[in-house]
Amino acid sequence: MAEPVSKSVLFVCLGNICRSPIAEAVFRKLVSEQNASDKWRIDSAATSTYEIGNPPDYRGQSCMKKHGVPMSHIARQVTKEDFATFDYMLCMDESNLRDLTRKSNQVKNSKAKIELLGSYDPQKQLIIEDPYYGNESDFETVYQQCLRCCQAFLERAC
Ligand SMILES: *[C@@H]1O[C@H](CO)[C@@H](O)[C@H](O)[C@H]1NC(C)=O
Ligand SMILES: *[C@@H]1O[C@H](CO)[C@@H](O)[C@H](O)[C@H]1NC(C)=O
Repeated sequence: MAEPVSKSVLFVCLGNICRSPIAEAVFRKLVSEQNASDKWRIDSAATSTYEIGNPPDYRGQSCMKKHGVPMSHIARQVTKEDFATFDYMLCMDESNLRDLTRKSNQVKNSKAKIELLGSYDPQKQLIIEDPYYGNESDFETVYQQCLRCCQAFLERAC
């Protein structure tokens, strides 16, 4: 029998095609390795409307394939309901943080804790830079940062 969902996290970046779907996929895999999938609601979303409806960037897809991390997502924008229903919103940079904080102030029943995903990094890399204009090694860097941060977040959230 599935236990009821008790925790929820939404990963957020600008377009929801590079960084946040990678973070979502990495966290989903970690949670499933802990046999805790039933306990978590996991998703990702964008602050902007730029990429709504699009799959993850192909460079991110090949990076995930290389690391054996299943990734399947269609970009969507953060909604008002997200602020009321997710426990955590973990974003990538200061610009995301400003956007989310501003939007949350417009939602009456916002409960989500809005934080930088990088604030969980044991190696203290606070900002996860947008790899969109970068190359494959920038996507690899994003993956490594997401992995470290998601491991630390999962340990702390349990
Ligand atoms: C998860 O479940 C599998 C299969 O039942 C088991 O082999 C594994 O040890 C479990 N892992 C954890 C972290 O509980
Ligand atoms: C990626 O770009 C950086 C500079 O931005 C460069 O140093 C590095 O060699 C490039 N890596 C690959 C795999 O092309």
